[in-house]
Amino acid sequence: MLISIDGERVDPAAATVSVFDRGFLFGDAIYEVCATHQGKLTMLGAHLDRLEASGAAIGIDVASMRAGLEAEIARLIEECPGEGERYVRIMITRGASTDFDLAEAETEPKQIVLVKQLKPWEPRLYEAGIDLLCVSPDQLVARIAPSVKSNNRQANVMAHRFARAQGKDDALFVDTQGNVTEGPSWNMFGVKEGKLWTSPLAGGVLPGITRSTVLKIAAELGIEAEERAVSQEEALASDEWFITSTTRGVMPVASLDGRAAPAGSPGPLTQRISAAWRALADG
Ligand code: PDD
Repeated sequence: MLISIDGERVDPAAATVSVFDRGFLFGDAIYEVCATHQGKLTMLGAHLDRLEASGAAIGIDVASMRAGLEAEIARLIEECPGEGERYVRIMITRGASTDFDLAEAETEPKQIVLVKQLKPWEPRLYEAGIDLLCVSPDQLVARIAPSVKSNNRQANVMAHRFARAQGKDDALFVDTQGNVTEGPSWNMFGVKEGKLWTSPLAGGVLPGITRSTVLKIAAELGIEAEERAVSQEEALASDEWFITSTTRGVMPVASLDGRAAPAGSPGPLTQRISAAWRALADG
């Protein structure tokens, strides 16, 4: 694993931030996760665009850091030893506040880049699919600005822990209107009668880069896809489901709230999308 803080290489064992850092104090920080495919970093531009948008939403100027971050990421990927693919995490905190002032940081934003080997997901998760549980985060901890990739992830952590404690792999958020949105670290898709559905961006989800690629793939394959609100009942009545994220790609869902996917897992449409996504990523 290689880490740099504000452009300086740091031994991972000594890679620490101050207890006064606002990322630690308030979750006042943003981040991005990207990955390599066949050794090449993919979609970096889209990830940095989203980091800029997250920064704009909370008042951190990421645009001015962009060239430096790109150079640092390239350098760390080049130098990171080991086999397999790389996981890249970019973290920007607003800086430190020794007086715990809510409004202002006393220092410049802290820029952290971490590159390590991407731990492959267990093959069974792709072969059989994962088991999801619908969780209303507002019963646990309310979600904050889902469209911003903020370090403030208490709701995501609580929902995931809740689902795991019930013996499931992960949670699917249900919003206060009863619509399913996304998972703690992925976007959700369902299939009903040959058509894809996924929650609209305005419905309180992260604008996932894999989500957007899957929507493009669906259009190319002539598969109809709708970005619309879907209730928990409608989600449960779907034929198949899958989830998307940078580190997972397209991962099938075997069951939702204990109901097995009627079309099997991975279902036929999930398999088509997944194969097309792999071909694109590999190509
Ligand atoms: N998670 N929704 C949430 C809440 C996420 O945190 C993520 C990404 C996604 C999928 O976005 P993308 O396809 O751009 O990775 C959706 C990353 C992988 C993470 O936090 O590790």
